[in-house]
Amino acid sequence: MQNDQAGDAKRTSLHGHWSSRMAFILAVTGSAVGLGNIWKFPYIAGQNGGGAFVLVYLICVVAIGMPVMMSEILIGRRGRRNPVATMELLGKEEGSSGHWRWVGGMGVIAGILILSYYSVVAGWTLAYVVKSVSGVFVGANADVVGAQFADFVGNWKAVGLSHTVFMGLTIFVVARGVERGLEQAVKFMVPALLILMLMLLGYSINSGYFGEGVAFLFTPDFEKLTWNSVLVALGQAFFSLSIGMGAIMAYGAYLPEDTSITGATAAVVTADTGIAILAGLAIFPLVFANGLSPDSGPGLVFQTLPLAFGQMAGGVFFATLFFVLLAFAAWTSAIGLMEPAVAWLVEHYNRTRAQASVMIGGLIWALGFGSVLSFNVLAETKFLAGTIFDNIEYLTSNFMLPLGGLLITVFAGWVMCRNSTADELGGSGATYKAWRVLARFVAPIGILIVLINAVT
Ligand code: PHE
Repeated sequence: MQNDQAGDAKRTSLHGHWSSRMAFILAVTGSAVGLGNIWKFPYIAGQNGGGAFVLVYLICVVAIGMPVMMSEILIGRRGRRNPVATMELLGKEEGSSGHWRWVGGMGVIAGILILSYYSVVAGWTLAYVVKSVSGVFVGANADVVGAQFADFVGNWKAVGLSHTVFMGLTIFVVARGVERGLEQAVKFMVPALLILMLMLLGYSINSGYFGEGVAFLFTPDFEKLTWNSVLVALGQAFFSLSIGMGAIMAYGAYLPEDTSITGATAAVVTADTGIAILAGLAIFPLVFANGLSPDSGPGLVFQTLPLAFGQMAGGVFFATLFFVLLAFAAWTSAIGLMEPAVAWLVEHYNRTRAQASVMIGGLIWALGFGSVLSFNVLAETKFLAGTIFDNIEYLTSNFMLPLGGLLITVFAGWVMCRNSTADELGGSGATYKAWRVLARFVAPIGILIVLINAVT
């Protein structure tokens, strides 16, 4: 039975709390830092022409991503339930409507769809752990590394197997509950990943093409910027920060009352954006040094970083460590992608966490074969945005997440009364005022302008 306690802002979570402020920041950082930073950011920056795209991305992160993240956390903490029930409860409590639950519902679906392809790419990183150990990158040139990637993704059984292993690992942790182990894993993973990225950066600086990489990433050429690129940049800001689908809202439900939402948001956004930029700086010099094309697509990271590892001393060790860490980062993000759906099934249908994880995870696993086959058997089956993988990726990041974010900021900025939000964000000082302007005007209007211009 749920105890609704309507009107009482200080309700307690149905699932207990994070052990500390740090634990929450670590969990949200673990959700944010993942394939989005190291795999997706470089490849879509490459496809969208670099500089101007990166600038728009950074603007979206600050002006839209930050207020959306703060809104999500404050809504989650106030509702203290899964995103569907939280939106319904607060919708009624704030004198609007229970229909706001559909925002949570869309998030549940977005999480399921995103994880269906995310797990496939996470599977690639697992397979690359095995390749690294076996030493196949040692001394390899760009052609060899490119052929290795093409051979691997061309083999649907190998891709399907690694996707299956990754989903199994994800179901396992989600079944055991959100707190245990996650904190420890993230505490080690993020700093270790940072150190390895700095090492790769060092390698890139010495490649002789660092200037080209920097120029590509930071010299804006607005001629190359289309409304579609702006939409992709906005979608990437949402995807990389894990916002717009309720993952952060679900985590916020376990957040202790006295934690600063603004402080936590600033820490997460800085870490997430820093790692993405670092990945770009490490990868693009290698692209130019090896005569590769920046717009090679989803294989970009897998075709460049092995070159660096293949040439450095201790490369087998560092390559293995890198892909292990990347798989770890993907794993902590996958947990966040499943959390809204699982929490919803547990609370709404009275399932145990284990049952809910297996049911949702099984569904995601099956859907994932659409993406597994997009790189081989069905590679030529293209419609709308491209393959099945391309379509799921485009629909979720560029439409579902921004639309979710739009509704979340409208809810926090317009539907919730000032007292409720000021209470959660700690008073009505300058930070609160800034948040309110961003959440009421800048974020929703910005999202609308981009969506409208990109589809018309
Ligand atoms: N932010 C994660 C990444 O960058 C992906 C993600 C999106 C995770 C949405 C949770 C929710 O890899």
